[in-house]
Amino acid sequence: MSAPVAIQGLDTTATTHPGLLSWVAEMATLTTPDRVVWCDGSDAEWRRLTDQLVEAGTLVRLDEKHKPNSFWARTDPSDVARVEERTFICSERESDAGPTNNWMAPHEMKQTMTELYRGCMRGRTMYVIPFCMGPLTAEKPMFGVELTDSAYVVASMRIMARMGSEVLAAMGDTAEFVPAMHSIGAPLEPGEADVAWPCSQTKYISHFPETREIWSYGSGYGGNSLLGKKCFSLRIGSVMGRDEGWLAEHMLILRLTSPAGKVYHITGAFPSACGKTNLAMLEPTIPGWKVETLGDDIAWMRFGEDGRLYAVNPEYGLFGVAPGTDYTTNPNAMRTIAKGNSLFTNVALTDDGDIWWEGMGEPPAHLTDWKGRDWTPDSDEPSSHPNSRFCTPITQCPILADAYDDPRGVPIDAILFGGRRAGTIPLVSQSRDWNHGVFQGATLSSETTAAAVGKVGVVRRDPMAMLPFIGYHAGDYFSHWIDMGKGPAGGGDADRLPKIFYVNWFRRGEDGRFLWPGFGENSRVLKWVVERLEGTAEARETPVGFVPTPEALDTDGLDISRDDLVAALAVDPEEWRAELPSINEWFERFGDKLPGVLWAELDALKARLAND
Ligand code: GDP
Ligand code: PGA
Ligand code: MN
Ligand code: MN
Repeated sequence: MSAPVAIQGLDTTATTHPGLLSWVAEMATLTTPDRVVWCDGSDAEWRRLTDQLVEAGTLVRLDEKHKPNSFWARTDPSDVARVEERTFICSERESDAGPTNNWMAPHEMKQTMTELYRGCMRGRTMYVIPFCMGPLTAEKPMFGVELTDSAYVVASMRIMARMGSEVLAAMGDTAEFVPAMHSIGAPLEPGEADVAWPCSQTKYISHFPETREIWSYGSGYGGNSLLGKKCFSLRIGSVMGRDEGWLAEHMLILRLTSPAGKVYHITGAFPSACGKTNLAMLEPTIPGWKVETLGDDIAWMRFGEDGRLYAVNPEYGLFGVAPGTDYTTNPNAMRTIAKGNSLFTNVALTDDGDIWWEGMGEPPAHLTDWKGRDWTPDSDEPSSHPNSRFCTPITQCPILADAYDDPRGVPIDAILFGGRRAGTIPLVSQSRDWNHGVFQGATLSSETTAAAVGKVGVVRRDPMAMLPFIGYHAGDYFSHWIDMGKGPAGGGDADRLPKIFYVNWFRRGEDGRFLWPGFGENSRVLKWVVERLEGTAEARETPVGFVPTPEALDTDGLDISRDDLVAALAVDPEEWRAELPSINEWFERFGDKLPGVLWAELDALKARLAND
């Protein structure tokens, strides 16, 4: 045991929760910060932290007339995305992490990381962030407490999660919480000058599913450091969901109202940087249809007493991909950030104190790029990192649905699975039934993007868009999905389940162009989806599901050639037969954990393709 250290702020009046106090003391003794600060989530705290970050060179304040109370941040060029290779599921047994996760035994990981954590906050402040994923008014609020030595993380957490004094008060002395430990891993020696974005070259993003703990080290990037998001709400959340009979999913949630005033709720699971935030905030191009936003990245779904599946967004902010976002593609995101109170990371800075990124119309004559260098339209590299992000309060979204704060959530009518595929996958297809929909989700494939470190544009299977986020064995996860199809306590009614669809906004023509215009025009696909629910839309039955005939999609006023439309909707049996061996290989990876019904679905697909 190390000797007790005198750390300012360790004795606090903020809480009397014994478990929380002893954990904070234990971590402070290990990491030896100069002081401990209990975050209250107030405006004064935000001002103090952002002033301090401006002083340190981490943030630059934007001009009030463009983006009030907003800041430009640049990370270390090596710390720009989630690090899947450094992400671990540390279950007691390796077999419980499954073939899609990195694994290390919990005691071994804790030993390794304890040595990294020892003294790692020297010269810095440890912030204690009490937070709650989902509304505080929930029957069982989902509490977490993050400890971090990064003021940027505190500021970002204030946008992304409900946090501060109110949460701490609601925790009382007995609430269970997920302890979420984070350090950038960059201690400061006395007199040593700090850098603008301190971080370690050694990174670990570790999860202990049995004890519901998170230990993160070495990175300040959002997905690795805002531990309420991917780490709690998806990786630990998926384990809780398995144990308790609900689903934690990488999904947007939207409310769609038809011209007749009928309301539908739709969730959509697309891999990172494949269109969730855009669809969640979509501005329909077809008259009389309305979309309202409920969530853009994560959905927690449970059965209600009526046997329907209800979805809640556990988050409080939007963490969106910046490049490509503009008034022409996602006007509601632009309106949300225009209200200010936002952080922009790894985008470019204009000379008059605003932000700019690729896709925002004509570039200005001069910018400061995401690496802090002069940039002109003649520069060789883009001004913004492809995974640069805006971080902005969801309450500023002009089309936010009231129900976003309702702990009961909204009843889901349809689930979309989607990926980024240049070929093979049609614009939209409806699954034959729940199990076929689970098959579509389990075999979802997508080209990799800049949201994770690694090669971009490689096709990989990304089941339910959850490959990097399933906190346990993916074969068990598929079984859990199959079981959910049996309804609450296995006694459900298939009619009450959401219907499942598979979409692909990213199919390309031979010349490399996107065949489908996407963005607001995706409302035409949503219209077909709800007309299928009503039983009024035409579809042709194909080996891979029900696909709209070109006439069944509302293309009034749409600028698309007949050839492109037909190509976007095409199901080519040759292309699909070529897909079968890789699906077979994919399923074999799960051994006897793969539910038999999914093998049966594959056999049925093979048979349908053979007859086609
Ligand atoms: P998320 O990470 O899943 O939330 O994805 P985003 O909505 O942030 O979009 C990621 C990237 O895909 C951005 O550059 C968007 O401009 C682009 N994108 C989103 N929706 C569409 C679409 O319907 N069609 C095309 N071609 N691109 C899209
Ligand atoms: P995204 O969220 O899905 O909006 O890209 C961040 C991530 O998944 O890394
Ligand atoms: Mn995501
Ligand atoms: Mn997003």
